[in-house]
Amino acid sequence: MLFRKTLSRPIQELVVIGFAAFTIFLVGVAQAQDSGTETKAGETAAPCAACHGEKGIPIDKSTPVIWGQNEGYLYLQLRDFKSGARKNNVMTPIAQALQRDDMLTLAQYFSSKRWPQLGLPSAPADIVAKAARANNSIGCTGCHQSEYQGEGTQPRLAGQWREYLESQMLAFRDGSRGNNPGMSDLMNAASKEDIAAMAQYLAGQQYMPGQ
Ligand code: HEC
Ligand code: HEC
Repeated sequence: MLFRKTLSRPIQELVVIGFAAFTIFLVGVAQAQDSGTETKAGETAAPCAACHGEKGIPIDKSTPVIWGQNEGYLYLQLRDFKSGARKNNVMTPIAQALQRDDMLTLAQYFSSKRWPQLGLPSAPADIVAKAARANNSIGCTGCHQSEYQGEGTQPRLAGQWREYLESQMLAFRDGSRGNNPGMSDLMNAASKEDIAAMAQYLAGQQYMPGQ
């Protein structure tokens, strides 16, 4: 009995050590796989930084923020640039070089980033009032959500460049951005003055998700 006891203890320990080592091995494999996916997404996303910014702040006001933009929306835009449903001399050739999997990876990667603060000024009271009237008649927040943070395939507008927002609303209006006929109809129901007010108001909205 004594003999069995003295033998069984090291064996038990060996089993415990063996199990612990195996667990560490499994965790190691899982971590290697995680960083592998992360590295691959990072590599695919690296060229985007030249324009959309190293830290998510784009190089100019005609280039939109994509960090923290909604995943479904990002994917749809890349798909539409590739198919030609949304036309842009810069983004079309970039998207044409991407496969569907790359677009899904990129959409997931950029949506998981934090929206950068561009520090754009809040609109003055008369512009806020004008934007509120436009929202009352067209119901922007019905789709773009109460804080203009968007959701799924509806884009976030809060804190985006004023110039970019205005250019896109006007492009929907005159049909040069034709990938969403619903937005084109709505923008045709708005005056250019309302569109300018909306752009100024939205750029100054500092929505930060509670994370
Ligand atoms: C050479 C500059 C440049 C590079 C590089 C670039 N983009 Fe863009 N991107 C732009 C510009 C400019 C626009 C605005 C296009 C327009 O006005 O329709 C844009 C628009 C977009 C949009 C639409 C966003 C929105 O709010 O509708 C997405 C998504 C996007 N880019 C993703 C990417 C990804 C992903 C990459 C890397 C694979 C990338 N871009 C690389 C310049 C660039
Ligand atoms: C019925 C739903 C709906 C309503 C109402 C609506 N939008 Fe949109 N809006 C969308 C969707 C969906 C898109 C994305 C279209 C696409 O996939 O290209 C969009 C796109 C946009 C964009 C382009 C964003 C970008 O990053 O390129 C702007 C700007 C915009 N909407 C502003 C407004 C404003 C301002 C109002 C109110 C005056 C409004 N929208 C009302 C659904 C709506």
